[in-house]
Amino acid sequence: MNVRALAAKILNQVVEQGQSLSNVLPPVQQDLSPKDKALLQVLCYGVLRTLPRLDFFCRSLMDKALKGKQRDLHFLILVGFYQLLYTRIPSHAAVGETVNGAKELKKQALKGMVNGVLRNFLREQESLVEKANKQPALVYCHPSWLVKRLQAAYGDELAAQIMHNNNQQAPMWLRVNALHHTRDQYQVLLNDAGLLSFSSEFNDNALRLEKPTDVYKLPGFTEGWVSVQDGAAQLAAHYLDAQAGDLVLDACSAPGGKTVHVLELQKNIKQMVAVDADAKRLLRVQENLDRLKLKASVIHGDASQPGSWWHGELFDRILCDAPCSATGVIRRHPDIRWLRRESDIAGLVSLQKNILHALWDKLKPGGILLYATCSILPDENDLQIQDFLESRQDASLIPLIVQDNLQNNIQNKGRQILPNEDAMDGFYYAKLQKSL
Ligand SMILES: C[S@@+](CC[C@H](N)C(=O)[O-])C[C@H]1O[C@@H](n2cnc3c(N)ncnc32)[C@H](O)[C@@H]1O
Repeated sequence: MNVRALAAKILNQVVEQGQSLSNVLPPVQQDLSPKDKALLQVLCYGVLRTLPRLDFFCRSLMDKALKGKQRDLHFLILVGFYQLLYTRIPSHAAVGETVNGAKELKKQALKGMVNGVLRNFLREQESLVEKANKQPALVYCHPSWLVKRLQAAYGDELAAQIMHNNNQQAPMWLRVNALHHTRDQYQVLLNDAGLLSFSSEFNDNALRLEKPTDVYKLPGFTEGWVSVQDGAAQLAAHYLDAQAGDLVLDACSAPGGKTVHVLELQKNIKQMVAVDADAKRLLRVQENLDRLKLKASVIHGDASQPGSWWHGELFDRILCDAPCSATGVIRRHPDIRWLRRESDIAGLVSLQKNILHALWDKLKPGGILLYATCSILPDENDLQIQDFLESRQDASLIPLIVQDNLQNNIQNKGRQILPNEDAMDGFYYAKLQKSL
């Protein structure tokens, strides 16, 4: 199998057919050797991170764009450019393998054309790169609507930094299962397995690996000693701070990373109710619970319509990890920026609002609701929470942790983590309490 051709097919499915990379890539990787698996990942992620730049090179070198059935060849050419610019693969091998990919795509007759474009690129690379570097859109490699929104929210300089960070490779974070080991104990096990890791002073169960690894190389992965979860996502269970005897709702729970973390931290809660609107994703919640030998009541339901699934008892704690633009996790999912449309944002904000209000009615007086998104857009975060606080007299914003700085309260805002802040994903948290 030609890995370049596989990458071209996958990229075509993502960019032209709007499929998500995390759905399309893993099934193809299954049949590959570890080396090819890694190369395929590098090529797909890399091209998606630099797409407008590579498209620009292609436009500059070809008279006519490849369309329709020939579109996969367009992506094959981008895969070629990517290797020549950003990998250490020797150029003769990169060109040769990419040209051979045309045969695998059943476009044998166009091999010469692919070869010609790649060789022209090699000749004109320097001046093309120079031209690209003068165009902000080709430097940031983000869609213009998102550039504008980030600049409006954070100013030009910080927005540029955010976009730069979005183009970096995300580290692999682990969550040590507190029911089995302390973080320090598990770090020793990792060391013994030859895996170097770093701990974070803000995050009790979190370790960041020096280099990503196969999960099955992690000591005790199948036994549930450890899970893969970004450092920012791991803050949710700490912030929620479920107490013994609490009835807890995780309202948008799939695939269940935060559900199980809450249970790892507090094994004496009364019950965990894990709801999600997506039946297929909900299967992953059960898989996670099974691997970690934990229990929850897993329910397929719509968080904005609790009438259809709520069993009549108000909750002490509610985690609302709302559906969102996922603009905070672009470094992990480089396709998000191309799949998401600006027109999606208003719909998401309105869905989040409906969910928040519906869940609030199911919270006990004195109870706590933690609102979370993996977005960095204020509309889904601070502005959403401000709007909520204005419309609900019985809601107040409280510090995320007891020792938290008072700034959060004074400014009436939640915590916005930006991508790569302390090596974490972009995330937002706001903790709300219902008056007694
Ligand atoms: C950010 S993800 C949740 C991640 C999860 N909390 C975790 O840590 O593994 C958002 C989830 O909301 C779910 N969702 C979307 N609309 C929903 C709705 N109306 N009611 C309940 N869940 C919904 C999606 O299926 C998705 O699984």
